[in-house]
Amino acid sequence: MLIGLLKETLPGERRVALVPAQLALLAKQRHEVLVERDAGAAAGYPDADYLAAGARIGERSEVFAGAEILVTVRGSALAEAAAAADFAQIRATQILIGLCEPLAHPAGVQRLATTGATVFALELLPRTSRAQAMDVLSSMANLAGYKAVLMAANQVPRILPMMTTAAGTLTAAKVLVLGAGVAGLQAVATAKRLGAAVDGYDIRPEVAEQIRSVGGKFVDLGLTAEADTGGYAKAQTAEFIARQQEALAQFVRAADIVITTAQVPGRRAPVLITAAMQKGMRPGSVVVDLAAESGGNCELTQCGKTALVDGVTMMGPVNLISELALHASQLYSRNIINFILNLTTREGALADKENDDIVRETRAAHGGEISSERVRQALGST
Ligand code: NAI
Repeated sequence: MLIGLLKETLPGERRVALVPAQLALLAKQRHEVLVERDAGAAAGYPDADYLAAGARIGERSEVFAGAEILVTVRGSALAEAAAAADFAQIRATQILIGLCEPLAHPAGVQRLATTGATVFALELLPRTSRAQAMDVLSSMANLAGYKAVLMAANQVPRILPMMTTAAGTLTAAKVLVLGAGVAGLQAVATAKRLGAAVDGYDIRPEVAEQIRSVGGKFVDLGLTAEADTGGYAKAQTAEFIARQQEALAQFVRAADIVITTAQVPGRRAPVLITAAMQKGMRPGSVVVDLAAESGGNCELTQCGKTALVDGVTMMGPVNLISELALHASQLYSRNIINFILNLTTREGALADKENDDIVRETRAAHGGEISSERVRQALGST
């Protein structure tokens, strides 16, 4: 099939959905790639590298006109009013693959559905072993967890490791990671590698062992949460969250750096640090709230901003993965290629995948209709 690689249009987005070194994997299955001019430039992948890997380079309109499969990082950007010219070029016979914000902003998927195209929203991938090789959310969260620690380390007015010098001994920084899914575990591991003393907390009890395995100490609050489903946590009651905040307060107070990553897909992020809890933190300490985009794990987080509140630096980064565009694109590309290879036959045709849970669950729109029950539910609740 002819795969069209679009250049990203969302301001600040530097990633690209396919990288040159991996195009051979697509060629093996008889796919060809048409790359929009400069699609990879911002991520560090020049057109010459795509050409050398056997792709063709074309203008944006040529990619829309020719491609059978359109690949992108921010599929949702194509539904924006500002992308009207792009939108008008999407055809009903095309397949669109990317991050489409199907649960957070289902209206975008609804709009894309009106083109008649088949839209695969990668956020809807099931969390199963087979889908792991395609799981872009995990790939990106892993890098975000790493970067969050570096941001905090850069900001905090102390070093992270213990250091014995002729002028005295500096103690290791205390890092607290709240929410130990993919981003959180990488944050624990990264802070540990930098020499900090790291505590990690999550409501899923099975995570305790994982926190220990990457060098952290598990914070056990002695609270029993609602069981998770499909690898993701469930939303908790207001009463549970209040008890959780109370029990967490002493750990938050003791920390030099807090990284928060708690999320429940499709819901507002749980508030783990209230304004009052933050008041108790030492001046100079730093909070990086990775859940800023979904409402924030801290009451005082300002989405996309860094603010000094009572001497505590509060960071609410959005799309910090774009700052790691070279590697983020490499992982994203491998995930999306695995997705395409699962969707197509060895001869490069579309496979019959009606019984494939990965295909079924990620297909957000098809034939002019919303085809995902989760997206329909999200539309119902907005
Ligand atoms: P994940 O689903 O793997 O992990 C979230 C963890 O939060 C789970 O382990 C879950 O059990 C835990 N959790 C849920 N409710 C909790 C509560 N009340 N208390 C404690 N823990 C709770 O998610 P992942 O992939 O690690 O992503 C984490 C966050 O980072 C998400 O909000 C995601 O959107 C965000 N993110 C932000 C980026 C950015 O640029 N700002 C980039 C990538 C991810």
